[in-house]
Amino acid sequence: MLRDQLARPLRDLRISVTDRCNLRCTYCMPADVFGPDYAFLPRSELLSFEEIERLARVFVALGVRKLRITGGEPTLRRDLPELIARLSRIEGVDDVALTTNGLLLPRLAADLKAAGLHRVTVSIDSLDPDVFGRMNGLGTHPQKVLDGIEAALQAGLGVKVNTVVQRGVNEDGLRNLWLALREKAVVRFIEFMDVGNHNGWNLGSVVPSREVLARLSADGTGGEFQPVNPRYRGEVAARHVDREGHEVGLISSVSAPFCGDCSRARLSAVGVLYTCLFAGVGTDLRAPLRTGASDPEIHTLISGVWAARRDRYSEERGEATLERATKVEMSHIGG
Ligand code: GTP
Ligand code: 5AD
Ligand code: SF4
Ligand code: SF4
Repeated sequence: MLRDQLARPLRDLRISVTDRCNLRCTYCMPADVFGPDYAFLPRSELLSFEEIERLARVFVALGVRKLRITGGEPTLRRDLPELIARLSRIEGVDDVALTTNGLLLPRLAADLKAAGLHRVTVSIDSLDPDVFGRMNGLGTHPQKVLDGIEAALQAGLGVKVNTVVQRGVNEDGLRNLWLALREKAVVRFIEFMDVGNHNGWNLGSVVPSREVLARLSADGTGGEFQPVNPRYRGEVAARHVDREGHEVGLISSVSAPFCGDCSRARLSAVGVLYTCLFAGVGTDLRAPLRTGASDPEIHTLISGVWAARRDRYSEERGEATLERATKVEMSHIGG
């Protein structure tokens, strides 16, 4: 079986289908950088659905079992259900998921479900309209996201919620959000990370997950939560349950890095393969695709990249060894 230099298999492929988004979250695509003049990718640069499917089939042959569609905001890609249908038909794929801000789900959820999508992960950082409006950069109201979550549930999709936590920004509203959503979805709280090059990250703006847990509980201690075993090896979120059995996930890339089991590859919308969320450079798969490479040649190319992989950025960050000059933007690989 294919293993990287740290003996990690390739199990999970995250596919970005667009670099555009209809929000401007300050920690991801800050409006002052991604403004009206920002040059987004022209359509001809994007991998076509045929190209994505072809690559996905090669990745599945190399061990991938789980596909996640990301962006930017993937629901902005025209005819997304058609891509989902192509991917969910691939033999060997156990799980097809979508990471989204939820705004277009009222329009799309039923078609996505019919196309074979299993589940969505919807991002929402606060239920307070002012706080959420500031964080999403455009003043968009949280109810729009809640409507998207409802639409997904109605359509029969599995739903998880992602909440990025930033010190002094949304930490006060975490318990409210958790109480409002815990009956409907698995909520996961993500430590603010130093992805990309524009979000002004510093260690002081990270709220460690153990503090998040304390803030979620009625008595402010976190004592009502018990850790539970991961559902699969290398699960990103550390699962906990409260006394009534509501599950919460903590994604602690800063305070408790999880590179040891990282089996994730990321494909950007233009077909560059990244072996880490914090990678500076990737491997272009589009050029070989468009210049006539055969499937076995692409297979060899990808397996060579994975076999050479040594990435463990989040662990190295802890060891304070590394200042990477330029990292890939979140909007290119979708987290
Ligand atoms: P499940 O399949 O539901 O377990 O989802 P997931 O946790 O694999 O995917 P999701 O996209 O919801 O991940 C949540 C967030 O965790 C991402 O958006 C990132 O912010 C972060 N994350 C995911 N994978 C990695 C990773 O490999 N490294 C780091 N540092 N963060 C990650
Ligand atoms: N730190 C942590 N999470 C982030 N996300 C985007 N940028 C960051 C960041 N800097 C999250 C989004 C979404 C997922 C794709 O990644 O909120 O849930
Ligand atoms: Fe868009 Fe998601 Fe980035 Fe927010 S985090 S700007 S919704 S891609
Ligand atoms: Fe994987 Fe890189 Fe994240 Fe570590 S930092 S878990 S190697 S993507």
